[in-house]
Amino acid sequence: MLKRPRRLRYQQNLRELVQETRINPEDLIYPIFIKEGREIKQEIPSLPGCYHLSPDDCLREEVARIRESGLKGVLIFGIPAERDATGSRARESDGPVQQACRLLQSEFPELYIITDVCLCGYTSHGHCGIVEDGRIKNDSTLPYLAETALSQVESGADMVAPSDMMDGRIRAIREKLDQSGYTHIPVMSYAAKYASAFYGPFREACESSPDFGDRSSHQMNPANAREALREAKLDLEEGADIIMIKPALAYLDIIYRIRQQVDVPVAAYSVSGEYSLIKNGGQAGLVDSREVLLETLTAIKRAGADLIITYHALDLARELNKS
Ligand code: PBG
Repeated sequence: MLKRPRRLRYQQNLRELVQETRINPEDLIYPIFIKEGREIKQEIPSLPGCYHLSPDDCLREEVARIRESGLKGVLIFGIPAERDATGSRARESDGPVQQACRLLQSEFPELYIITDVCLCGYTSHGHCGIVEDGRIKNDSTLPYLAETALSQVESGADMVAPSDMMDGRIRAIREKLDQSGYTHIPVMSYAAKYASAFYGPFREACESSPDFGDRSSHQMNPANAREALREAKLDLEEGADIIMIKPALAYLDIIYRIRQQVDVPVAAYSVSGEYSLIKNGGQAGLVDSREVLLETLTAIKRAGADLIITYHALDLARELNKS
């Protein structure tokens, strides 16, 4: 007898009943950019539809929109007014992220606040760690990262997400938080973060391009998959609660493999370059950007991601909640 898989495809209602993967607003995390200063709401040229926001009414209004959309969580990045060799503004209690956390925690207590932990947006040289003799030093960077995470949590962050890719940073941050009484604060590790050309628009947004060299001494070689499993396992041993893979679309195999190997939630960061390509492709009339977006996010979830960090989150959550 002929096998007929098409039987399940003839009607829309049936197709929906048997659909295996769905995107829900609850799956999405929205990145936001906090710029130190007052009354700043500036569209980011490299990320159309996303804004630089100062931690005042400008942030308040945008977060009110975010809450209305049904999104639960934001991932916060800071752009400081001044940069120095150790990235002091990343860890100072009046730094841009800390100001934002305090404001959001007091005015939007039901919003889930995740903070990115890295130094590259705060250092004068644009590197993710402490630079000595032209090299990014691993071990001397760890205390700065731990201090940064602690000060973010003290200001109201609900979860920290280290994106620097130094060895041992998850343990350093976990120990620091535990010693300070924050045993309940989870760490989402950018465990498999690749040295990717897809970060271009983000670096423009954060003014965080390195002024010499690149990030390939700490971020992973895009050609490697086994190494991602090793990174994920090490981060779990060190105390990570959620494992993130970044970028997403060009790394679906990594998402899939890590999903098979770990029993914690897996997050995927669909990065700035992925956003820009879809957005600009749509604006240029090359593709239907909405359909391409849904297909892309569905693929990321189908590969095994539980959570997706995406700049499309706000628009998409609004749309999903309307229908
Ligand atoms: C900081 C950091 C970067 C991104 C997130 N955290 C940039 C980088 O590693 O240069 C990229 C996010 C994106 O492209 O959307 N280390």
